[in-house]
This record gives sequence, C-alpha cells and structure tokens, in this order.
Amino acid sequence: MNQKILDQMKNNFLKTNPIFTTPKNVHPLEQRIVLKNYQVIDPESIIEYIAKDGYQSISKALKMTQEDVVNEVIKSKLRGRGGVGFPTGLKWKFALEYESDEKYVICNADEGEPGTFMDRHILEGDPHNNIEGMMIAGYAIGATKGYIYVRAEYPLAAARLQKAIYDAKELGILGNNIFDTNFNFNIEIRLGAGAFICGEETALMESIEGKRGLSRNKPPFPAQIGLFEEPTIINNVETIASITSIITNGGEWYKKIGTEKSTGTKVFSLSGKTKNNGIFEIPMGISLREVIYNIGGGMKEGSTFKAAFTGGPSGGVLDETHLDVIIDFDSLVKYSSIMGSGGIIIADQNNCIIDTIKHFMEFNADESCGKCTPCREGTTILYNMLDDITKGKSSMEDLEKLKHLAHVVSSTSLCGLGQAAPDPIFSAIRHFYDEFVDHIKHKVCKAGVCDMPVTKGGE
Ligand SMILES: Cc1cc2nc3c(=O)[nH]c(=O)nc-3n(C[C@H](O)[C@H](O)[C@H](O)COP(=O)(O)O)c2cc1C
Repeated sequence: MNQKILDQMKNNFLKTNPIFTTPKNVHPLEQRIVLKNYQVIDPESIIEYIAKDGYQSISKALKMTQEDVVNEVIKSKLRGRGGVGFPTGLKWKFALEYESDEKYVICNADEGEPGTFMDRHILEGDPHNNIEGMMIAGYAIGATKGYIYVRAEYPLAAARLQKAIYDAKELGILGNNIFDTNFNFNIEIRLGAGAFICGEETALMESIEGKRGLSRNKPPFPAQIGLFEEPTIINNVETIASITSIITNGGEWYKKIGTEKSTGTKVFSLSGKTKNNGIFEIPMGISLREVIYNIGGGMKEGSTFKAAFTGGPSGGVLDETHLDVIIDFDSLVKYSSIMGSGGIIIADQNNCIIDTIKHFMEFNADESCGKCTPCREGTTILYNMLDDITKGKSSMEDLEKLKHLAHVVSSTSLCGLGQAAPDPIFSAIRHFYDEFVDHIKHKVCKAGVCDMPVTKGGE
C-alpha cells in the first residue's frame, strides 16, 4: 500500500457509490469526532473507511518525525478517556524517550464499569479508526506490536476488530514497510474474561502475559516498564479513536474544542430514568442539565429527577443543585464526583441512594483482585455496613465508622479499584445526608426500596 493506491481506492469507490449521509439521530448539541463514522459507514468495509479518508492520518504521520507526532498530540491537550484524564501526549513522550528494542501499544477495551457502553459502540461502529490510531501511536513511540484487550462479552466488537485487522493486513496497511517506509506494525486481539480489575492497566498487562489479573505496584509506570517489561503505552478506546482527527486537523484545531483544561469531545453513555438513553458525543463543558433535559429528552413520564450517578461504581452522586455544573475532568471533582470514563445514570424518586451505592460496593467487593488487604477486606466490610443501613440495623455511630473505614480503604489500597471504591460513599454522605438520617434514625426508606420497618412515604 502507498499513498497513490490509497487515493485511487478512495476515488474509485466514490465515483460509483452514493455520498455518505449523516445519521438522523445525531442531536444538535453533538459534535462527532470519535463517532465521525458511526452509523455512517459499514464498519465491516475497509473500502468505505478508506473512502471517508481512512488511513490518510497514518500516511500523514509517517511523513512526520516521531517527535512531531507526539508534539501534535501534546498540543491537542488530549487527556485519556479511560477515567483518570492523564495527558496522552505526555504518556507518549515518556514511552518515546525510553530506549528499547521492543515497545508495545495497548488499546484498553475492557469497559467493565456498570452503566458504560461507549467503547463498545466506538469499536463496533468504526473498528478501523482504532486500528489506525494504534498504528499512529506505535509509530510515535517506536513500537512494532499492539494489543487490543477486549472483554469477551463484546463478541461483535471483537469480531469486527478481527475482520478489520485481517482486511488491513490483506491490503498491506498493517504489516511490514507500511506506506513504503521502514515502519512495521502488527495488532493482536486478547479477550478479557469479564473481570473489572483487568481494565486496570497493570492487571491488564498481567492478563495479556497469561497470568492472573492482579495489579502491580506503580512506579514503575507502564511507559517505562510495561508489558513483558518493555516500555508500553496503554490508552483507552476513545483516546485512541481521537488520534486520527488530531493528526489530520492538528492539535491546535482540537484544543479549541471543549474547555481549556479538558479539550475535545467526550462520548457519554446515558442510562436510567431519562426518556432517551444511549450514547452521544458532545464537546467537553456541557452542563448536566443539558444532558438530561435536552439530549436525554427529560425525565420519563412519572419520574422526577433525584440524582445523577457519574463515573460508575467508583464515581459519585449529584443532586438537583448540581444540574448546572459542567461536565469535564475537573468540574465534577469539586462536588465529590468525577466524569470518569463517561457513564451517567439518572435516578428518580423511586431510587434509594444508599441502596444504589450498596450495589456499587457489592460490585467492587466482588471484583477486587484480592492482592491487597485494604481492598480485599475493606470493600466487603463497607458493603456489609451499607447493607446494615438499608436494613435499619445501624446507629449514627456506625455512620462515623463507615466514613472512617472508607478513608482507610481509599488511602491504603494498592490500585485505583480500592482507592476509588469508597468515593460514592463520600459523595452520598455529602449530598444525601438526610437520606442516611432517615434510614438510620427514623428507619425509613422514602424511595420504598429498602426493607425497613416503615416504607414508602416515610412517617
Ligand atoms: C479497576 C479499574 C478498571 C479500569 N477499567 C478501565 C477500562 O475498562 N478501560 C480503560 O480504558 N481504562 C480503565 N481503567 C483505567 C486504566 O487503568 C488506565 O488508566 C487507562 O486505560 C489509560 O488510558 P487513557 O490514558 O487513555 O485513559 C481502569 C482502572 C481501574 C482502577
């Protein structure tokens, strides 16, 4: 494959085929960068991807130096979409600077958080865009091998990726001497077995290495000592899916979208009690109110807004006083919540906050890898304490003990799972303290969810 053939393929296809149309369900507030081809092209057709300027970005990147590609990503101020928001360009710079004969690129498509389904749609809708993004990352840091770690519960995403890799190899896009240069790159898929911990970058690498998914100590960070002890960059699906547009249009273009510190767009998955649920891509900085009442179409018939759970089982919960807070990496943190990877779950009057965070804690306790004591033991004890509250068996003194243990677990756990598992507790106590008092002192669950002596409606 070379530039001339790529252009010819594109032009020949466009001569005989209709122009692509934008899907009708794109909301006016949306700006589609990551989802540029979603429901526009046939995801199983490499030629349709090429017709939409596919593989032009890697071709452009290969004409740049590795440093220039990294600098373009730094300029864009893109921050990782896997939840933490670490600057992507900086991560690439570290990996480029470490000298090694072998380096790796990993695309993290584990997506195990309840209420999140963005990455699944991104991969199912446009697998080639991720392959191209990984190729650019590989070239930028000097890697020749990439892995996509997809959860096995996403068989369609895995099958489409497999086909895309096969087709790209057949056309000589993946493989050796890509675009007549000395850049070689290959990609393999690894299926995860449905463990949330395997989304954590170090546990994920253990899993690819064929070991049990247990997190490693950090430092060293993966950019220095990663997969098979080689420098490795691991990025989320959406992060990688943003790369082709950044290389095509430039970092300056990208950084003008969104907010100053959270540039670009973000794909969210909305679920719960709003009329419209699903995924959408908006510039960073749109308020929760717009998400719920504009994009989400408002609350379902008979539902009144009570709370928004953001950032999944390690995130937080917001009430109606936060509706005008904008959603980006930094704003929600001020209100004891996070944007996380982009899952938003909307609750109404029939949802009990304590019961919901109890289920989040149950999830974290189940998914703890067990390597460190605070997380292994602590998440289960926290779950039991929350369970007691939902059964009317707690005192206000127990609430103090709950807070204390939550602090211990978050400050002493080895990895992000245990460190963030107690966060919904802090956030719920801050914003829904009365609901704790109702359950503990008055033995009432006003939502009518918990098995209390007094049920719906209260006293
Ligand atoms: C328990 C746990 C699960 C995680 N799951 C995922 C995941 O499914 N996908 C993901 O991209 N990042 C996940 N992360 C974050 C990764 O460790 C890592 O920060 C991310 O893949 C880096 O990519 P980014 O810089 O593009 O965000 C998880 C972290 C923890 C602690």
